This record gives sequence, C-alpha cells and structure tokens, in this order.
Amino acid sequence: MTTKADLSIDFCGIKFENPFCLSSSPVGNHAEMCSRAYDAGWGGIVYKTLGLEKSFKIVMPSPRLSVYNYGDKRFVGLQNAEQITDRPIKDNIRDIAFLKKNYPNKVLISSIMGYSDDDWAELAKMSEDAGADMLELNFSCPQMARKDAGHRIGQDFESVSHFTEVVKIACGLPVMAKMTPNITDMIPVALAAKQGGADAISAINTIKAITDIDIENFTPLPNIHGFSAATGFSGPSAKPVAMRFVSDLYNSKELGLPISAIGGIETWRDALHFLLLGGTNLQVTTGILRYGYRIIEDMIEGLSDFMIDRNIKSLDEIIGKAAEKIIDPSEFTTRYQVVSVIDEEKCIGCGQCYISCHDGANQAIKFDSEKRKASVDEEKCVGCLLCKHVCPVWDCISYKEVDAKVTKHAAVF
Ligand SMILES: Cc1cc2nc3c(=O)[nH]c(=O)nc-3n(C[C@H](O)[C@H](O)[C@H](O)COP(=O)(O)O)c2cc1C
Repeated sequence: MTTKADLSIDFCGIKFENPFCLSSSPVGNHAEMCSRAYDAGWGGIVYKTLGLEKSFKIVMPSPRLSVYNYGDKRFVGLQNAEQITDRPIKDNIRDIAFLKKNYPNKVLISSIMGYSDDDWAELAKMSEDAGADMLELNFSCPQMARKDAGHRIGQDFESVSHFTEVVKIACGLPVMAKMTPNITDMIPVALAAKQGGADAISAINTIKAITDIDIENFTPLPNIHGFSAATGFSGPSAKPVAMRFVSDLYNSKELGLPISAIGGIETWRDALHFLLLGGTNLQVTTGILRYGYRIIEDMIEGLSDFMIDRNIKSLDEIIGKAAEKIIDPSEFTTRYQVVSVIDEEKCIGCGQCYISCHDGANQAIKFDSEKRKASVDEEKCVGCLLCKHVCPVWDCISYKEVDAKVTKHAAVF
C-alpha cells in the first residue's frame, strides 16, 4: 500500500510506520492472524495478553459475546466476557519470535498479566527474549476469574506501581500500563504506574456494562447457562468515554507520559479525534471484529488525505490540539450567548424541533401549522441547540451569537 503523507510516529523511542495497532484481544491471537494484519498495513500489534498457565489456568465462558444494537443499527457496542489468552505460553512466545523474525520493521508489543512478582518478571523476560519491542501491562481486564487480577489490580495504586517496577527491573523494554475505565479518576492510577517506571499509558480497556436482556426468560446476555454478568464493553458507543479519559491523561500536568489511545476507533475520523485529544499511538479491536483487518486501508488513506489537504507534515503537529481546549466546566465564560437560526428555505416543516423544544427545552420554537414552518423566538431561546440536533435536515438549523443581555436567560454579569 502506498501512503502519500508521513504517518510515522515515535512512541517511547520506537518507530511505527503508522500509529495504528491491533489492541490486545482475539484480533492478535497467533502468528498467522498477526502476519495477515501486518500484511494489511497495520503499523503494530499488541498481542493478546499472556499469562502463565502454571499460576492460573484460563477457561473461557461460553458464549462470551453480546452486542448492543440500537434501532436498526447493529453492533454499536460489544460486550465480551473473555479473559486473557488460553493458549499455552510456549506457543505464544514461539509466535512472537516468529513475527519479529519475519516482520522486523513492524512493531510487536507483548501484553502481559501476572499474579505475583515472579510471574510479572518471568513474562517480561520471556517477551523480551522473544524479541518484543515493548510491553503493555494489563491492569484492566474487567472479567478475570481470578479475583486478584485485572481491573481489581488496576484500582489499587500500590499494586500498579509495584508490578510496574518489578517489570522495569526484570527487562530493558519500554513499558506501558493499560488503564481500566471502571474508575472515576484515572490520573492517580496512571501516576502510580509512572512512579513504578512506566514509559507510557494506554487507555481504555473495556467498560463494565450490560448490553441486552432476553425478555423471554428475563436473562441478560450473554446468557452463560442461565446467568450473565456486567463485563467489558467496547466499540463505537464506548468512544465518548474513551475520549474523555485520553484527554484527562493528556491534560494532566503531573503525568506527562505518551498515550496509546483505545476505544471505538473504526474510521480515520475516529483516529483523528484521538490524536487531537492527545493519543500518539492508536489501538483497535471492535472495529476489526466487525469489519476485519481491511479497515486499516481506509484509516490510512483518510488520515493521509486529511494531512495533505491541511498541509500537515507530521502527526506531531496535531497531537493534543483539541485536548488543549478541554477545560473544567467551572471555567466556561458566562458572557457568551447564542440563539438558534432556522433556514426557512431548508425547513421541511416536520415540526420535530418544535416538539423537542416544547417538551424538552424552553418553548422557544414557534410553529406555523398552516405554512408548516418553524421559527425561533429569540427572547426565549437559550441556545441549547436541541432543535439543531433533532432536525433531520443537515444544515437547516445553525446558531448566532447575540448580546447576552437581550435574552431572558442571559448569563449573569
Ligand atoms: C473480545 C475481546 C477480548 C479482549 N481481550 C483483551 C485482552 O486479552 N487484553 C487486553 O488488554 N484487552 C483486551 N480487550 C480490550 C481491547 O484491547 C480494547 O482495550 C477494548 O476493546 C477497547 O477498544 P475497541 O473499542 O477498539 O474494541 C479485549 C476486547 C475484546 C472485545
């Protein structure tokens, strides 16, 4: 595949031909799959999380997936009940060595999860010896059958700091710590990882959620022999939560670590959003489960075209540019007021803006039922833009700035 723009990144001193990686999951489960992903154009792979079967034997529940469908839109989110790999460690290490030998210019990140100091150290050393470029520490799987593992560890600052340090002592590889979103504030955990020596932070792992219920038998899905659980949710509907955490990490003055952004990336626009919020490296699972490795082609082409259109020479020029504009809500100006503007020519008279404003906002839309046209009462309009968001016509409703004092709901001076 030929790319027009330079999409390469430097992440923890490692050169990636593009920022796109498989995230740790079934999409990067063995050498044959990973080879196809590299051939398709992915810059790197975070291999499915390794554990030591001598410490804990993984047995996956069945079935293990459920999807969140909304209206006629299928797969807007995915729930999984999967744990780390159930393949033998020797097979995975052999596969990692194979991949590095055959794809020396592609990046391979080994994701690991231990249950003791010895486990973490052993997994780190084995990965390094197999040729992995970097490690990702899985402090975030929300459904490990073993209770002292996964996201429970990821909520315990001391354990995060300690195991990161154990790994840093055991090997010479750059290390990133993968965060759980099942927490109010990610920064203290990320700082604990930094204290332990982490070189980067990756976020997010999946969000504990329930996606669906079989109303015939009142059983939530996935129905695992009559029972279910709140387990890891991912994909497009998880993206707003992921974006929030990535920008939190980027904007933390104390943290100052590079970020690998994960959560709902399926298109080049999703990728761009995460770059703008501070991600340098980008990881994908659900988009691949849904559409296959081939989505990389559109992501590379779209991002590349965007850069050329804007004369952007390097991704470094845009990383974090939107995160800089995220402030605390308490800092919003109260001196800025807008009202909606309806383009009469484009209004199709459906009345949706009227209904929503009437029942859900400030009764600021007037509707002429004879002419079937909506208009705005600027005195009443608070500029919430509900009307714009429900209007079925693209660009029919816009907004303009007004003197804040003219509306009844003007900001307080
Ligand atoms: C079926 C499945 C299995 C996963 N297994 C792992 C895993 O072994 N290790 C890990 O760190 N994350 C795992 N994840 C989480 C993903 O790597 C990723 O953080 C999450 O799915 C969000 O990204 P996405 O919206 O692109 O899927 C898994 C996700 C799914 C859907």
